[in-house]
Amino acid sequence: MKTLNVVLTTLVVSGLVAGATGAGIIYSGAYNVAADDHHLDVTYWILNKARQRSVAAHSADIQAPELGGHRQLVQGAAHFSEMCTGCHVPPGGQMSEAAEGMYPQPPNLAESGAEMPARQIFWTLEHGIKASGMPAWGKSDSPEALWAVTALIKAFPNMSGDQYQTLVKEAKAKGIGEGEHSHGGHGDAHEPNSRHSESTDHNEGHHA
Ligand code: HEC
Repeated sequence: MKTLNVVLTTLVVSGLVAGATGAGIIYSGAYNVAADDHHLDVTYWILNKARQRSVAAHSADIQAPELGGHRQLVQGAAHFSEMCTGCHVPPGGQMSEAAEGMYPQPPNLAESGAEMPARQIFWTLEHGIKASGMPAWGKSDSPEALWAVTALIKAFPNMSGDQYQTLVKEAKAKGIGEGEHSHGGHGDAHEPNSRHSESTDHNEGHHA
């Protein structure tokens, strides 16, 4: 019984000391929140691993529709060029000045497109990533629009800058993707030739 008391007292006291040290660091302002003061390697590893595991677990039940039809890529390019290039470098493009100063830095999505399953990309677009600058787009954009952007990112590893620009121009010329964000999307969901609208239909159920 005596030993148990000693153990418990030690645990409580060390807990208090750790808590007080933590509070001391927080209240003294000693921790540097500057974006140009980077995390220790071990902290970075923990945050990175936690993000990857979290995205994988939370997206596990999402069923990706068929991706990569031409019209869908055009729609994805319309959204990407409007919503994403302020932070993520487009194929053949330059990183923005804002992105260069961000920490964590917005990754090159050609690499993510090669590495991440479509459902994980989609989940990241819908929900964003806490305390990183990556916004959640699920409130302003329809699942159809987010799958179109997902399809584009999956196609990035094999896409040249010229091919990307051609898609953006085609979107502008045809008005594809216009007025789709901020009010729930579906701007052109009823066009008869949109092959992907069939494939997104069965997927809407997941988000209903
Ligand atoms: C304001 C800046 C900002 C904007 C705008 C933004 N992102 Fe991000 N994004 C980030 C940052 C920063 C990260 C890295 C988060 C981290 O590492 O914790 C990120 C991460 C991601 C990831 C995860 C990549 C990976 O390899 O883990 C994807 C996918 C992504 N963004 C796609 C998009 C798309 C598509 C858009 C446009 C619809 C977009 N982002 C708009 C800042 C932004």
